[in-house]
Amino acid sequence: MCGIVGYIGNNDSKEILLKGLEKLEYRGYDSAGIAVKNEDGVHVFKAKGRIAELRGIVDENVFAEAGIGHTRWATHGVPSKVNSHPHQSESGRFTLVHNGVIENYDLLKREYLADVHFQSETDTEVIVQLVEKFAREGLSTLEAFRKTLKLLHGSYALALLDAEDNETIYVAKNKSPLLVGVGDSFNVVASDAMAMLQVTNQFVELMDKEIVIVTKNEVTIQTLDGVAISRAPFTAELDASDIEKGTYPHYMLKEIDEQPAVLRKIIQAYQNEQGQLEIDADIIDAVKNSDRIYIIAAGTSYHAGLVGKQFIEKVAKVPVEVHISSEFGYNMPLLSEKPLFIFISQSGETADSRAVLVQVKEMGYPALTITNVPGSTLSREADHTLLLYAGPEIAVASTKAYTAQLAVLAILAEVTAKSRGLEVNFDLTHELGLVANAMEVLCDSKEMIEVMAREFLSVTRNAFFIGRGIDFYVGLEGALKLKEISYIQAEGFAGGELKHGTIALIEEGTPVIALATQESVNLSIRGNVKEVVSRGANPCIISMEGLNMDEDSFVIPEVHDLLTPLISVIPLQLLAYYAALHRDCDVDKPRNLAKSVTVE
Ligand code: F6R
Repeated sequence: MCGIVGYIGNNDSKEILLKGLEKLEYRGYDSAGIAVKNEDGVHVFKAKGRIAELRGIVDENVFAEAGIGHTRWATHGVPSKVNSHPHQSESGRFTLVHNGVIENYDLLKREYLADVHFQSETDTEVIVQLVEKFAREGLSTLEAFRKTLKLLHGSYALALLDAEDNETIYVAKNKSPLLVGVGDSFNVVASDAMAMLQVTNQFVELMDKEIVIVTKNEVTIQTLDGVAISRAPFTAELDASDIEKGTYPHYMLKEIDEQPAVLRKIIQAYQNEQGQLEIDADIIDAVKNSDRIYIIAAGTSYHAGLVGKQFIEKVAKVPVEVHISSEFGYNMPLLSEKPLFIFISQSGETADSRAVLVQVKEMGYPALTITNVPGSTLSREADHTLLLYAGPEIAVASTKAYTAQLAVLAILAEVTAKSRGLEVNFDLTHELGLVANAMEVLCDSKEMIEVMAREFLSVTRNAFFIGRGIDFYVGLEGALKLKEISYIQAEGFAGGELKHGTIALIEEGTPVIALATQESVNLSIRGNVKEVVSRGANPCIISMEGLNMDEDSFVIPEVHDLLTPLISVIPLQLLAYYAALHRDCDVDKPRNLAKSVTVE
């Protein structure tokens, strides 16, 4: 989703801003721009499309020691140069970049700005025009900015330049992530630390409804009412090489390959000195004290939640419901007496999930966030956090975060079960170790899966994924991966549901990818395959060693039957990857999608 960068110091800001925006490309965007300021005034460069287009139009000869930049993922107004950020006020004095959505922008426009000529269709332009209006009425820039912020309803991360002040970038945030990075004789602004790791790893966290005055030597944080706040910087524990592709053609492939190492890292991170899996006693108490767990998540994380429900119910014997975060606010079920909410989110910034977190905190319920990003909004605002230790996930399509989420949920289930005195008849550490080995075998089977992708997915318009039990949930994830990066219409179904409607869609050659990793339903799912084959489908059966049959296209190594999703998903991730590649799609940055969805 949209990204923000800013720099003020002694060096030329252009290259720092452009490099910063390149680091944010993975989040998804459709236009980009920078504004840099020197004694001659503010110079704005904007382009629809990729940062490469923007680079092409930036004037090399402009040297400016302060600037702001933005990648835009369109919400209000089509992707275009005119709607891209930075936006300027009518006179050109103020220049602004914005992430988020201003819900009352239309009202503000009518009430305060009826006589202003707007350039764009964006909600952002309302903010910058308001600052100018209030400055024209005699307020200082800081006061005008503050007055504007008090009128805004919605989410925002903002960086503002004033052409009459070469010393300052004004910054504010509400619900959208934003950090200030500190350096020696320079300071920076970034919606994601990754963007500015090129110059610093020291960042100051900003809270909602704070205003920050950033100069090259100082960072001053205030509340909206002007009360000063002091906050020490933290060190971003990111290695710049974690966010490089290295020799890989795509981040997605790199992240698929990282899965065995991530799993081993998780096992280590959750092991105590005696080699036992351990989770904070507070978290285990929260699970034990609850009579029902509500898992809230979106997309791939929701799919991880569906598998996690199986782990927690089967191993820890606590009832679990899994809900799509964007629906929960409207469709809240009757809650149990002692609910515990678990938010699963790779980014920890998903606005739909955060809206539910705010709601349940207001209701006084405990919340645990399972996330890959320490210090993310969902982590900060929940009572407890469990980390995924997956390292930065850059490709828009989530892969290693999904398997990391499954591993952490399995560990949570096992530790809870043991602390409730329940018998766990397998050694999870050992079983996860076997899973990591099996993952390696699968990552080494790329050539075979590439051939399968050609055979089953290179010309098709649509594809179906079927499975029963836990395989059904993995099928949902396989379908999501395929559709989001290859644009093939793909759906996941419970095998038994086919005959209740979906089978009508099967035509000659329709690919049906069937998962058969569960002994208890092996024959039933194979029966479903026969049903579709007799109607012309092209079946691709992915089974597990020990359950495999001659007709199977791919056999995954045998692992504990509860943990099969951690490995059966890998051929599906690779199938999606190669299908997208064969179709010439932009694997890491699929159209219309953003990595971190920070608007509701
Ligand atoms: C799909 C994908 C998305 C995310 C979803 C939630 O590959 O990545 O479906 O899973 O947007 O994001 P997080 O996990 O960051 O809350």
